[in-house]
Amino acid sequence: MNATPAVPDAPKVHAKIDLPPKNPIVLPHSRPIIVTIDGPAGTGKSSVARTLAKRLGLDFLDTGAMYRAAAAIVIDHQIDPNDADAIVAQVHSADLHFDWKTDPPTIMAWDRPIAARIRDADVTAIVSPIAGIAELRRLMVGEQRLIAHEHPRLVTEGRDQGTVVFPDAAVKFYLDASPEVRAARRADQLRAAGRSADLADLLREIIARDQSDSTRSDGPLRAPPDAIRIDTSSMTFDRVVDTLEREVRARATT
Ligand code: DC
Repeated sequence: MNATPAVPDAPKVHAKIDLPPKNPIVLPHSRPIIVTIDGPAGTGKSSVARTLAKRLGLDFLDTGAMYRAAAAIVIDHQIDPNDADAIVAQVHSADLHFDWKTDPPTIMAWDRPIAARIRDADVTAIVSPIAGIAELRRLMVGEQRLIAHEHPRLVTEGRDQGTVVFPDAAVKFYLDASPEVRAARRADQLRAAGRSADLADLLREIIARDQSDSTRSDGPLRAPPDAIRIDTSSMTFDRVVDTLEREVRARATT
């Protein structure tokens, strides 16, 4: 079996995001619009959401960062990962919020940025079970709706945005890609950052995280029935964003 599947354009995912918008025409300014993007890790969702938001003149919300922040708090405050009440109390006291003056918005806890901490391997290792805690999800869903109230022109990405948090969103997307392609993209990202990457380990991790994210009872990873589904396995980053942009513009102007 070939252990290194070909991945079209995978390393370009991050290289593209700071280019100026291709099409500077923003959507009508007066109208609120929520665009949701859900899907598993490694589909390029976050970069796609951020670039799409820029092109359309909308704000961008990374809800995974909120669950990652909660997981970082659990580790750094030595909270028992099984003690849901203690986790919710501490996360509540952290008053998680975003600094919207930065691009992308920076996640803050106790008014200090923790964006650099939330991508660490120890956080990634426990975030999925932490995100499965029903009481924590209730807190996060409430926060996300408050954010949308303050930023009503929003591209928001996660696992439950179109299903649970914003069931009435104007446009919903579900991005997917094969586990092999997603593992290879992650390996490319790690190597580009000068870190080592074992493809077989990454594939196992991705399959385990998919399983954990999609089988939890609260806010499971699931495609909204009314979502536009896109398999990004053999698409370039630009083609994915172009496709989403076209769909949003077609719906937002009718
Ligand atoms: O997208 P990400 O890898 O940063 O997400 C981190 C974790 O948080 C992942 O295990 C899925 C979970 N998550 C979630 O349960 N619901 C969301 N809306 C966003 C992320």
